[in-house]
Amino acid sequence: MHTFSVLDYATRFAGKSSAIKRPREITHFSYDDNHALKHDDSSLRYYYTPELNVDLSTGYGSFVKHDDSVDEHLDSLLDALVELEKKEGRCATEGVHFVTWRGMMTKIMTVPYLEDGFEMNAVYHDGTIFIEENNLYKQSTRGSQDERGARMSFWGYKFETLSTLSKPWDETTREEIEGRNGEVVNNKAQYCSIVQTSFGDSSLIIAGEVDAIWDCRPMNPANPINYVELKTSRQVTSTHQIVNFEKKLQRFWAQSYLLGVPKLIIGYRDDYGILKSVDIKETQAIPVEIRKAHVAQGLGPPPWNGNVAINFTTAFLEWLKEVLAGQEGVWRIRYQQRGARIEVFQLQESGTAGVLTDRFLAWRAE
Ligand code: A3P
Ligand code: MG
Ligand code: MG
Repeated sequence: MHTFSVLDYATRFAGKSSAIKRPREITHFSYDDNHALKHDDSSLRYYYTPELNVDLSTGYGSFVKHDDSVDEHLDSLLDALVELEKKEGRCATEGVHFVTWRGMMTKIMTVPYLEDGFEMNAVYHDGTIFIEENNLYKQSTRGSQDERGARMSFWGYKFETLSTLSKPWDETTREEIEGRNGEVVNNKAQYCSIVQTSFGDSSLIIAGEVDAIWDCRPMNPANPINYVELKTSRQVTSTHQIVNFEKKLQRFWAQSYLLGVPKLIIGYRDDYGILKSVDIKETQAIPVEIRKAHVAQGLGPPPWNGNVAINFTTAFLEWLKEVLAGQEGVWRIRYQQRGARIEVFQLQESGTAGVLTDRFLAWRAE
């Protein structure tokens, strides 16, 4: 068993964060309305201001919901890398230390302040460590969702439907805008961006869902892409809610930071699911905003901040690279809720337990 301590997190990882390169998109893919994989941007959505005072429960009965209990491993991400390599005639993971979903990096970045545990599986292959979520753990810790939880989860997807269009705004989108509240909400469709980024000396390929784009893709692929992340949140009225919201914002910030999504759009709702207002935040301004709000509450500096999270992640990845370099088989990365350490140990001595696909392995063996 190898362990990485998270004790004294705030002091050990304090200080300026190392120079960070902006994440760059290397490719993207879509899932269509049936969750079939498409190597294109067909499911990319375009932001267009939603109408206020709309009931986010409208259409709850006809929600087309993706069954996320099925373990999708890294399959579509690996498929997209194979496609990219075929198109560009180069190895996409050359010099890349880690390949994973954005969700895994969000969990790592928000240790230990966000109080959840996690389990991941890791495989070292040809110089790169591939990390996926341990689906069994995810299922076992999820708990059963009650009616209100299910409805609140629907509100998030409904907000996405109310705030986006299938193509950039022009005169012909008027009908689509007016029909948005009657559209069937379907979360099987998704658009995913795959970026290359780094933490200190660790280079990573990270893939994650992107909700929409502010304008449209830049003509010049070297330019940043104005993606936006959409979120819903309860209107903040009490001190208790401020602290909760602050924690949520930290997760939102980490999520968007990882893919280089520059804007966060928050739809505030009341307890009955009525959309009351919309706020647009710049991702990079969020850590300072949280610090100011925390201090203004008389709570002193927050125990978690962007630099600490980045420094912690940099140190952890550096350590993990050494532990897993050249190792065979499948490894587990585990953090127990409010734990003092992240644990890494071997699960099986050979094989990849589905972390890598046969298609990917066959392509690499060619
Ligand atoms: P909100 O974040 O607005 O609540 P994402 O914001 O990551 O793109 O996710 C879109 C929506 O999926 C969320 O909207 C929420 O409704 C739902 N969702 C995401 N993660 C969830 C979880 N762990 N449990 C329940 N619903 C979730
Ligand atoms: Mg999303
Ligand atoms: Mg979202």
